[in-house]
Amino acid sequence: MVVLITGATGLIGRKICTELVREGVEVRYFSRHPSPSAILGAKGFEWNPDQFTFDEKAMDGVTHVINLAGATIAKRWTASYKKQVLFSRINSLKTLEMALEKSKNPSIRILSASAIGVYKSDLHLTHDEHSTAYGDGFLTEVVQQWEAQAQRLSDKGHALSLVRIGIVLDSIQGALPKLVLPVRFGIGASLGSGKQWQSWIHSEDLARLFVYLLTHDLGPVINAVAPHPVVQKELLREVANILKRPFFLPSIPSWVLKMVLGEMSAVVLESQNVRSTLLESSDFQFKFKAIRPALSHLLKR
Ligand SMILES: NC(=O)c1ccc[n+]([C@@H]2O[C@H](COP(=O)([O-])OP(=O)(O)OC[C@H]3O[C@@H](n4cnc5c(N)ncnc54)[C@H](OP(=O)(O)O)[C@@H]3O)[C@@H](O)[C@H]2O)c1
Repeated sequence: MVVLITGATGLIGRKICTELVREGVEVRYFSRHPSPSAILGAKGFEWNPDQFTFDEKAMDGVTHVINLAGATIAKRWTASYKKQVLFSRINSLKTLEMALEKSKNPSIRILSASAIGVYKSDLHLTHDEHSTAYGDGFLTEVVQQWEAQAQRLSDKGHALSLVRIGIVLDSIQGALPKLVLPVRFGIGASLGSGKQWQSWIHSEDLARLFVYLLTHDLGPVINAVAPHPVVQKELLREVANILKRPFFLPSIPSWVLKMVLGEMSAVVLESQNVRSTLLESSDFQFKFKAIRPALSHLLKR
């Protein structure tokens, strides 16, 4: 197995590389700024998705691809930044498609990252992989165009699965450290009503899941979330319990968050109750199914 990863230098990619290298798999990655020491045991190759250029040597003998590349959504959504969020993903996939054309392997297994932000935000709906209840905001629009672009790789004969990732909980990067900070200072409060569903996954389980899916084709769309989503107030209350901090302040109203964060407030205010029916009926073993053990593991280090 030779695995090529785009966006390998990010939160999820690094963890996947570590898992694969530990298993003795040959790992290569495309980066805009590869450096020999960036990811231990993996070989970096330069690409520039905005220019549609890439190092062809990376493709020789590749059997599996994981596509993660894209500009973060955790920055203020100005009109120009929104274009970057979308086009970084579209251009990365277009460049990957060109790279795959150079490969002599006509049927490569491809896992392409996607997001549960595609689903309609609703306090009462539950979404499994068959849900067609999509949202109507910026995140849904990005994900739909991202998935449509990835679909072209399947149309070319490759075995594609779209992995709709939930909120990735990690001790160092991503959403959790930002949510934990005010709680640590004793000023934790839920955001908006606090009733919004947060479908989360522990970063370690997500990395193990990508490795599992390389050799287990569960279908064209897989929801990558832990079996037990929680409402936001519960998540923050668990954080406060684990850190032994108070959690009694009134919620921060939605309108304040919208004023401070602009359109990006959707990231913390949207509610997606997502089930991973396919994973739960497979033999994939989650290490962290419920929020308390996951948070205890991440926060008590
Ligand atoms: N973390 C989450 O909670 C979450 C949830 C749902 C979906 N996802 C999706 O899963 C993917 C990986 O997530 P992550 O948290 O690991 O992301 P991340 O830490 O932000 O890393 C993304 C990687 O994409 C590359 N990248 C950044 N800006 C780019 C640009 N303008 N053009 C091309 N490549 C660019 C970077 O690689 P180089 O600098 O090496 O080129 C970077 O390491 C992302 O696409 C993200 O949207 C993440």
